[in-house]
Amino acid sequence: MAGRLQDKVTVVTGAGNGIGRATALRFAEEGSSVIVADIQIDKADETVQIIEDNGGNAKSISVDVTSGADNDAMAELAVSQFGGLDCLVTAAGISHANYVSGDIEPDIKSIVENRATYLERPGWEFVEADPDSFDKVLNVNLKGTLLGMQSCAAQMLESGTRGSIVTIASIAAKHPDAGPVAYTVSKAGVWMLTKKVARMLGPVGIRVNSIGPGFIKTHMTAVIDLMDESEAVAFNEMIPLGRRGEPVDIANAALFLCSDEASYFTGEILHPDGGFFTE
Ligand SMILES: NC(=O)c1ccc[n+]([C@@H]2O[C@H](COP(=O)([O-])OP(=O)(O)OC[C@H]3O[C@@H](n4cnc5c(N)ncnc54)[C@H](O)[C@@H]3O)[C@@H](O)[C@H]2O)c1
Repeated sequence: MAGRLQDKVTVVTGAGNGIGRATALRFAEEGSSVIVADIQIDKADETVQIIEDNGGNAKSISVDVTSGADNDAMAELAVSQFGGLDCLVTAAGISHANYVSGDIEPDIKSIVENRATYLERPGWEFVEADPDSFDKVLNVNLKGTLLGMQSCAAQMLESGTRGSIVTIASIAAKHPDAGPVAYTVSKAGVWMLTKKVARMLGPVGIRVNSIGPGFIKTHMTAVIDLMDESEAVAFNEMIPLGRRGEPVDIANAALFLCSDEASYFTGEILHPDGGFFTE
């Protein structure tokens, strides 16, 4: 039986880990060839290996999403390797300026420092926030998403492909408690960018949607695993479905948005979040 993305070509950024990797694997299962893009090329290569072991087609590329040239090379690789570009999922992202996927130490340091200031000198954790770290988070999360969309949309326009773009925002796009200040602002930007580009590309048949995940089990939320049992219970109780999501929960939402089943969706955001955030 043909897959839901049979013979399509998808580019996934941040596909070396977490949500991006789950998306690359899920799309390959449904028949898409996948360009696996990440700044961690060893992790991107692992993703490709898993796809190939399961009989799929994939190719890795080292990409820093803040570089226009890297994004262009990524989009061009889809065309030269697999003959076109139908879908883009922008999963590359950071939660704070020193974030390195898979290294929990900078996360602990960032949380401990902010919390200490918040408890001892409330308000100063905002006033003293380093504006340069704001730039870094916005560069990767917001500008990185913009550049990926531009490079991939250019290929779609060149070939007249009525493609689908899915950005990965967050519940933090709408909920100020769901992350640090720069992160929430960057994700609000990703959501507005998605709506704006949906309006601009709708007339040429390119659909642009977003996903705003809740708390998903990846390196980005690994600090939650360090909570003691009572804290972990209280955390899960905040989520109506009583658990953090799995990366494949987000991959399935992206699959829907890229499939023909979502052919009348554009400029929308889905929130797979276990009911944590209800508007
Ligand atoms: N995990 C969650 O709870 C959650 C919730 C909402 C939104 N998100 C978003 O989902 C996306 C994926 O995050 P995740 O949870 O899978 O984390 P992750 O750390 O597992 O994956 C992030 C990936 O992005 C890559 N990356 C980081 N900077 C990059 C750059 N400059 N260029 C290219 N690649 C880069 C990393 O190497 C990593 O592979 C992020 O945008 C994140 O903000 C995650």
